[in-house]
Amino acid sequence: MNIGLIGIGTVGGGTYQVLKENAAEISNKSGIEIKITHVADKNLKLAKETVENETIVEEDAFSLIENSSIDTIIELIGGTGIALDIVRKALENGKHVVTANKALIAMHGEELFKIANKKNVLLAYEAAVAGGIPIIKALREGLAANKVNWVAGILNGTTNYILTEMKENNLTFDTALKQAQDLGFAEADPTFDIEGVDAAHKITILASIAFGIPINFDAVHVEGISNLSQKDITYAEELGYKIKLLGIAKSQNTDVEIRVHPTLVPKNRLVANVDGAMNAVLVHGNMVGPTLYYGAGAGAEPTASAVVADVIDIARQTKLSQNTLIPSLGFMPDKINEKNILSIENIISEYYLRFTMKNQAGLLAKITNIFADHDISINSMVHKEVQENNQNPDIFLITSKTKEADIDTIISEIELLPENIEKVVKIRTEELNK
Ligand code: HSE
Repeated sequence: MNIGLIGIGTVGGGTYQVLKENAAEISNKSGIEIKITHVADKNLKLAKETVENETIVEEDAFSLIENSSIDTIIELIGGTGIALDIVRKALENGKHVVTANKALIAMHGEELFKIANKKNVLLAYEAAVAGGIPIIKALREGLAANKVNWVAGILNGTTNYILTEMKENNLTFDTALKQAQDLGFAEADPTFDIEGVDAAHKITILASIAFGIPINFDAVHVEGISNLSQKDITYAEELGYKIKLLGIAKSQNTDVEIRVHPTLVPKNRLVANVDGAMNAVLVHGNMVGPTLYYGAGAGAEPTASAVVADVIDIARQTKLSQNTLIPSLGFMPDKINEKNILSIENIISEYYLRFTMKNQAGLLAKITNIFADHDISINSMVHKEVQENNQNPDIFLITSKTKEADIDTIISEIELLPENIEKVVKIRTEELNK
């Protein structure tokens, strides 16, 4: 599968990298070798620095579209100017197109899908909504059995980052925005982020998939966060809410609501705790109930992850791959290989341990010495106050990362101490943040 990549900025560079670094994994799943043979970018110098020698670099994007050796175009320029001409022309020339361009799909999706249909090619846009979260696939395929009642999501990383930094670290709006720009999340024109336009592009697309309606960006009510004051963030918090910029699409009998605005969300909802540049989308289906999707909504590699998934999808769904059925386990049948599955004694984790022991002088030293003898450190430890009615106070700790077999040895030594009363409680911990 020969790809022409147009635009090698943040996401383009990430896409090139993902296809290179995960080449074997990707071909084991798609059943074909996928290669970026050509790259086009106005910044020839940057393009040449980013790609390997065998990739042909050109300044003129249209030469890729005319090139008959290329089957698929990845458009990562963004915006609705030249990108529209490129995608339109590529589809008309019978090429499949993958894009991360939410503005393009929200404003011109109707026209472009018609061309793709007529030419019997695919126009894939998973990366256009919520970056690395596969929300298009979930909504269009995974939830296909449902009548969707509503979709609500944090769809813009920049504004979520600004709101989080203003609340958690007392940053000013401008400083937080500058940081989001430096991190590469913000749009070329950051007013699109701040004024809710970017989120509106995304909820427009989701509303169409959810309710089977034409794409109609102009009908969306849009408010951003520029009028939000620190005071309201604080007062909302006092009332038990967090303020999030939500994109909301609801089905109301025969009507539909589509809107973007700052919204108070009860503090204990999972979505209220989606902070920083992360995105989350809630979809309520009439059969499945509420479902939640969380992940990085911007950035080079997360967005590239969605772009490349679309490329794999095109390979699987078209004659480009020898096997046009999606393999049952994701990998091509001849690429399923045995791997050693670790026994529980060999896993590595941090552990919460709780001891029930007689409170005697030197008890803590005895416990910590056993850890020291095995060269295992303790991350934190609590010794509750001795009460009149409880002479055996609770002692509990979190270990550092340790092999389970070593923790079991420590536990058995501690249980042999004369002060020990009950079996030590052991619970594994998972940070789940990396
Ligand atoms: N500017 C967008 C955001 C990038 O901040 O979420 C991803 O679409």
